[in-house]
Amino acid sequence: MRYLSIALSKGRLTDAAVEMLEKIGIDCSEYRAGSRKLIFTDESGKIRFFLVKPADVPTYVEYGAADMGIVGKDTLLEEGRHLYEVLDLGFAACKMVVAGPAELAGKLDSLNNKRVATKYPRIAREYFEHKRRESIEVIKLNGSVELAPLVGLAEVIVDLVETGRTLKENGLVVLETIADISARLVVNRVSAKMESERINRIVDGLRKQLEEKHEA
Ligand code: PRP
Repeated sequence: MRYLSIALSKGRLTDAAVEMLEKIGIDCSEYRAGSRKLIFTDESGKIRFFLVKPADVPTYVEYGAADMGIVGKDTLLEEGRHLYEVLDLGFAACKMVVAGPAELAGKLDSLNNKRVATKYPRIAREYFEHKRRESIEVIKLNGSVELAPLVGLAEVIVDLVETGRTLKENGLVVLETIADISARLVVNRVSAKMESERINRIVDGLRKQLEEKHEA
């Protein structure tokens, strides 16, 4: 039997993802042992998984190098890959928002050709240009995006907000909410047909786990 491969996001999502897989009986002991291997294998279940940068998870899944993946909705929206999003795993819940100084509250419309700093240029464009029909200048940053409006690089930002602490401590507020974000289970489109039995077993196991958590 061929191995079923799962691509996991390296970083914030890893622990919760591994925990969920363990709870449905996938052996993650190789990963737990702190191995430097890039591929972790569950021999008995013929499953292997690997950790990659979040933005690369959809790529591995779209090309079929991974049959499945666990990745944030923010990354899915930004990467726009062709794959099936089959389950909201609930963890790592946060929001994608437009944020800026409080004096811009309710005045977003009046800011023509605004400069929007973000790690998510595609999401920012989609929101402003397609949904609001406003032209913007996107300034791509790689982190600490909240700094941009404070030093005059941009009027507003598009970024993730979890607790709201970073915004608050930097004197910024949420101006608009773009989307609810959380970890999602994704499946390659060919694997969904060719490996439907094994994939469905995993999807059902995870779904059941979520339902039990919900009921508790
Ligand atoms: C994320 C996000 C915000 C912050 C939100 O950044 O981009 O900056 O967390 O969290 P909070 O609402 O709980 O304060 P991350 O920590 O990933 O670092 P980065 O800004 O360098 O990307």
